[in-house]
Amino acid sequence: MQTAIALRELFSAEGRRDPYPFYAGLHQVGQAAPLDPVVDRYSVVVHGYEAIEKLTRDPVFKMLDAAYLDRLDGRDEPLWRRRRSLRVLQQTVFFLNPPDHARLRRPLAQAFTARRMARLEPAIVRLVDRRLDQLEEAGAGGRTVDFMKLFAYPVPSDVIGELVGVPEEDRPWFPPRSEPFSLVLEPGPQNWRYLQAGDAAAAELAAYFARLVETRRSAPRDDLTSTLLEQRASGAAEFSDEELVSNLIGVYNAGFLTSVHSIGNGLILLMERPAHRAELRDKPEVAPAYVEEILRYKTPVQFGVRYATEDTEVMGVPVPEGGEALVLLGAANRDPRRFSDPDVFDPHRPDNHTMSFSVGPHYCLGAALSKLEIQLALPMVLRRFPRLALAGSPRTLDLMTFHGYQEIPVTLG
Ligand code: HEM
Repeated sequence: MQTAIALRELFSAEGRRDPYPFYAGLHQVGQAAPLDPVVDRYSVVVHGYEAIEKLTRDPVFKMLDAAYLDRLDGRDEPLWRRRRSLRVLQQTVFFLNPPDHARLRRPLAQAFTARRMARLEPAIVRLVDRRLDQLEEAGAGGRTVDFMKLFAYPVPSDVIGELVGVPEEDRPWFPPRSEPFSLVLEPGPQNWRYLQAGDAAAAELAAYFARLVETRRSAPRDDLTSTLLEQRASGAAEFSDEELVSNLIGVYNAGFLTSVHSIGNGLILLMERPAHRAELRDKPEVAPAYVEEILRYKTPVQFGVRYATEDTEVMGVPVPEGGEALVLLGAANRDPRRFSDPDVFDPHRPDNHTMSFSVGPHYCLGAALSKLEIQLALPMVLRRFPRLALAGSPRTLDLMTFHGYQEIPVTLG
């Protein structure tokens, strides 16, 4: 029952702010621990790096798809089906299981090839530069500016817009819709509020992407939307218009808050460590190692969930059919069995590999893109503003799912 206490603490205000002491306690009891599903909803918490690698690759564990949610609800018209945001999410690759998962993931993956990422690089540099110009203008004369609002939020929206094919002039419209849509799965008493805002955002996003699909159908370009339409037209892929729109929303949002908070977290970690900040500023070749460590040390998406399709076990912990597993990616990133001195920020640690993008069939499709974006963005910030300084305490996000900052007041020097 020690683990049940730890989980309750994890969902508390203090746990949301700093879950790492709780994770350290969990690591002491092994790689997975039983929970009481009546108290905690989940049957097992899985926090070891190796255990998560095993579980996410095990076909017995599946994503919480529409059929599972229907069974869980039991009503003729399950409640989740009345929520627009949840209906959209359930059609995205995130929540699909075989065979539908591959049917949607294969065509999407065509847009994330190494060749395409290389082609995106000059665009990312241009977009970051433009946002740095705007930051410089806003912060002229020593004025305090919010790094999150003026840089960390807009850059990922610009970059995904470039990938998906959203015209530049439309991109500022996205953050106020992407953020509420991304929060609909946030657990806790505020969930209904997030759901309401998320449903409104889902309706607007669906209308936008339906129009974009029509535009690209008649005038294709070199972007994700056109790639998907071309694959379907050639018979290489099969999906409905509704699935197409849902997955465009899914990709846009998958890459948004995740990257926003990685950039903000990276800035704070570097501001707190002047020697590291100087090294990243002066040696562009160390950027990949820094980004790997930023993503290990501060995990942007803390957890995922799977359910067991038959009676099974995780590292010796029994899980009944239909039991849910809470998969703590943030804890795996601090697993002392996998990382020596896990609570030390060390970009030069050997054999580093963050768990932040998960593993297995649902491994993040945007991992290479977001790493590239952060590797380019953070050194560009440090070089443009070598005297950038905090102008007050950063405001931490109060969320269970995403970890990062709501506001980072800075002066540019
Ligand atoms: C630092 C930034 C990012 C982080 C930390 C992150 C994290 C994750 C995680 C943890 C998953 C798997 C969830 C699970 O297994 O339960 C995932 C899946 C996914 N991510 Fe990312 N992501 C990031 C950026 C992006 C970007 C930029 C894009 C696209 C533009 C993207 C697109 C996706 C997609 C489409 C999936 C679903 C894959 C599938 O289910 O087959 N992500 N991401």
